[in-house]
Amino acid sequence: MTNEPTVPSPLALGPEEWGPHAIPDPLARDGHERVGAPMPRIDGPQKVRGAAPFAAEFPLDGMVYAALVFSTIAKGRITTLDTAAAEAAPGVVLVMTHRNAPRMRPMPLFETSEKAAGADTLPIMQDERVHWNGQPIAVVLAGTQEQADHAATLVTAAYETERAVTAFAQAKAAGTDPGHFHGPLHLEIGDAEEALTASAVAVDATYRTPPHNHNAIEPHAATVAWYGDELVVHDASQVVSHTAWSLAYILGIEESQVHVTSPYVGGGFGGKLLGQHQVLAAAAARLAGRPVRIVLSREGVYRLIGGRARTEQRVAIGADADGRFTALIHTGTHATTRNNAWPEPFMLATHSHYAAGSFKLDLRMAYLDMLANGSMRAPGGAVGVYALECAVDELAVKLGMDPVELRVRNEPRSGPTDGRPFSSRHIVEAWRAGAERFGWARRNPAPGAVRDGEWLVGMGCATASHPYLRMPGGAARITLTATGRARVEVAAHDMGMGTGTAQTRIIAERLGLPPDRVSFAFGDSAMPGLVPAAGSQQSASIGAAVVAAQHALVAELLKLVGDDSPLAGLDANEIGAMNGGLARLGEPGRHESYAAILSRAGRDEISVEAAAPPPLEMTNLSMHSFGAMFCEVRVNAITGETRVSRFLGSIDCGRVLNARTAASQIRGGIIMGLGLALMEETQFDERYGRILNAGLAEYHVPVHLDVPEIDVIWTDIPDPYAPVGARGIGELGITGAGAAVANAIFNATGRRVRDLPLTLDKLM
Ligand code: MOS
Repeated sequence: MTNEPTVPSPLALGPEEWGPHAIPDPLARDGHERVGAPMPRIDGPQKVRGAAPFAAEFPLDGMVYAALVFSTIAKGRITTLDTAAAEAAPGVVLVMTHRNAPRMRPMPLFETSEKAAGADTLPIMQDERVHWNGQPIAVVLAGTQEQADHAATLVTAAYETERAVTAFAQAKAAGTDPGHFHGPLHLEIGDAEEALTASAVAVDATYRTPPHNHNAIEPHAATVAWYGDELVVHDASQVVSHTAWSLAYILGIEESQVHVTSPYVGGGFGGKLLGQHQVLAAAAARLAGRPVRIVLSREGVYRLIGGRARTEQRVAIGADADGRFTALIHTGTHATTRNNAWPEPFMLATHSHYAAGSFKLDLRMAYLDMLANGSMRAPGGAVGVYALECAVDELAVKLGMDPVELRVRNEPRSGPTDGRPFSSRHIVEAWRAGAERFGWARRNPAPGAVRDGEWLVGMGCATASHPYLRMPGGAARITLTATGRARVEVAAHDMGMGTGTAQTRIIAERLGLPPDRVSFAFGDSAMPGLVPAAGSQQSASIGAAVVAAQHALVAELLKLVGDDSPLAGLDANEIGAMNGGLARLGEPGRHESYAAILSRAGRDEISVEAAAPPPLEMTNLSMHSFGAMFCEVRVNAITGETRVSRFLGSIDCGRVLNARTAASQIRGGIIMGLGLALMEETQFDERYGRILNAGLAEYHVPVHLDVPEIDVIWTDIPDPYAPVGARGIGELGITGAGAAVANAIFNATGRRVRDLPLTLDKLM
């Protein structure tokens, strides 16, 4: 029943609206092939030469350096805060505490308004109250970073401690609330519990995932300066426009008084949003009358920047004897705080993977006194897909069925829980191509059966998925010059994933110009558009905005062409771009170059700005990127250590815009999935609410020797409903990778461990 479309879907947007992309140049190869082919990063040479200024590399006159002091209790009041020794230390310019900090509003909680970017609603150094262990209680400004760091160690505090909830079990016992994320995180179709009981074969298990912290290679940083009442923030950000608006709100000034730039970012992953550090730097800069550079120490990132929440998930699947799902249950609880903006919606992906006769999906939240958890690459999906896809593997074992075949057998014909038609879904092709390439047929299905000396060898697989997203607010400006160059501006971001490179080429194709005649500018809140680098949406969001701006550009250019132009008398929708100008669709000979149009009209340049249409494709269709993940592991029978020896991601994400940077994004996600499966764990001291392993010495992430060659292949079938044919890939890789590893470990050892990470002590 859930396989049939139940919602009639008038498609307001589709191939007609997004096209024509460009007229294929008869002298060049097929346009799509040209776009997808590997292209090295445009910003690569600058980065290698050290010529790309990151947030902490803007030298400003009179600048001072900030260091933070963190609370050492989880909840209570500061009774004594002694800053005298710090103030007397060499080079110190100012010590800011709640006693002298300017009055500020709390952060506007993410999604409470269009540009709100706050992770929590707590006061920022406004009073003596402590809300989490690690909260900033003082900012020290000094002439050098070393002086600031030293002086920060001289600040002493005494506290009156209050009873805090710092253990997950204690928080659950105190009562949980239902989760919300664009609506309730609860869904029931049919009676899934009853169907589970009645099913021929069933699995029912609980999976636990620990909290995770952000570890971008570039720690969070900002260089801030006041020019009168105007604030300039050189930030490391995935949300420049949100940050500008939110800082203005907090500081009680106008949005137009805040300018945020973020031209280069050393990794975001959901962590480079608005934190207390930018706010504290702006406040301290105002108080000191000097520009301030703040760079969080690695420990500072752990104390201030919320990561992924702890989860406890039940996945139960009932199936008939042929393996068709009759019941799919995914419920559970995650840890969070009462002042939070982010759920960890682990059951969301379960809406879209498989057809089932009945569903029960639910999420509860338990409240702790800790740093507010935040968004971290594939919120919900990374840990939720892990649990779901392990359960599917467990069912395959019970059924004695190949896990690839079991997945293919439960492939839905439309959105499994909403009946919406798919925009484009080729996961079965991805499974077939991946299985062939990986040599899946050679897998021995019997657990623990393949041995190479003291190493047990196994193969596992899992489905990966991430929803397509395009938030409202996209806009772009195109400036075209009489010399035949174009500059496109969008307040978007490149945190290293290759946005600038992929978009330059897409824009070039769109405008019919060679890529070296196009510049794509981003990372500046003064530019048009509200395009967060979040939710894997930038390719679609920027694409839709550029399409709209190009339409506006064509309309403006047509106003300029005189009667002599080969384009005279044509309507905008009869026209496409090619060969440095415009031509009639289907009649490429009727062409005039941009240079000729502008010169004849006596114009040096023309500039247009346009907003993207509302994202109706998202509402009307079931749109997701998918992957079929394959992993081979070797587990040492004596020491229990796991080595991932091979990995393949077979990806269905629509059109591939740049095979080089796209594969790199997928590999990055998979590597984070290896970390999720095997080593990443924030050790949260449940007695004191303090993170114990706040640094890379004890919080382990995969390093080069942990990562095998990762193979990535694509279906590369353009999605007709996505603006440039591409769905997102930023978060896809991490989903599914963890389960593929866990399932391979089961195949290697016969051990099913359901508590991440799968460290050697659990496998010995
Ligand atoms: Mo993200 S976790 O949407 O950067």
